[in-house]
Amino acid sequence: MIVPTVSIPEKAMSSTESTLEGVPRIPTHIAIIMDGNGRWAQQRGQPRMAGHRAGTENIRSIVSECDQIGIRYLTIYAFSTENWNRPTLEVQGLMQILGDFIDRETKNLHAQQVRLRHLGRLNGLSPRLRRKVQHALDLTQHNTGLTLAVAFNYGGRADIVDATRELISAGVRPEDVDEQMISDHLYTRGMPDPDIVIRTSGERRISNFLIWQAAYSEYWFTPVLWPDFRAEHIHQAIRDYGRRERRFGGLSEQS
Ligand code: IPE
Ligand code: IPE
Ligand code: MG
Repeated sequence: MIVPTVSIPEKAMSSTESTLEGVPRIPTHIAIIMDGNGRWAQQRGQPRMAGHRAGTENIRSIVSECDQIGIRYLTIYAFSTENWNRPTLEVQGLMQILGDFIDRETKNLHAQQVRLRHLGRLNGLSPRLRRKVQHALDLTQHNTGLTLAVAFNYGGRADIVDATRELISAGVRPEDVDEQMISDHLYTRGMPDPDIVIRTSGERRISNFLIWQAAYSEYWFTPVLWPDFRAEHIHQAIRDYGRRERRFGGLSEQS
């Protein structure tokens, strides 16, 4: 398979010329497992929630940076279906933080033409939080800038279960099921698969994130904890991505 080389969008050349100059291709879709908030707080002798707040504060600048670079889709993993296993107070705190994030950031994101998407099960959230999320989605749905997909109450397995339920309730015949049909029923429908999955905090696992969509993604791990993750780390990841050869099961271009 010939993988086309995508030239760096003009936006990237002007804003980050010094660090992304010469990079052969920029990912269309970056997905980030924002991990390490708890350890960040513990290292400072603070409660875990302080880490979650610092981590949430960090999202704004990373979204802006990705937008500047010309990334079209940014997916952030904020709460997994397994995170319900945490102590009730931490779960409640994380719900509160999502609500606060929407209240505080939606206006700015909308002004930046960011289109918000939610990946996951909304019905696990309180009616009030669901209304907030829905309002932010409705408000930004026609925006034409970066798509920011927030994976909240998201699990890759739940994603596939929900897609399967939809297909069965629609009465789809088994012989008509193919990969495209499944992709079209996942929470990410209409979005391209992530080109690169970044995980912070030194853990090297996928933790039920985009398990279908990331089948051919490149992975990039950093020991940096999420609240300390900066534009320079995005640049490092993109430069590294630019050096990878994506073969999709085919042969190297040199072969
Ligand atoms: C990631 O940080 C945020 C969520 C999973 C909600 P963690 O809370 O997992 O931080 P660590 O891994 O305990 O340091
Ligand atoms: C993955 O991080 C989920 C999010 C970042 C939202 P976790 O900290 O929950 O993952 P594990 O438990 O270490 O695999
Ligand atoms: Mg963690």
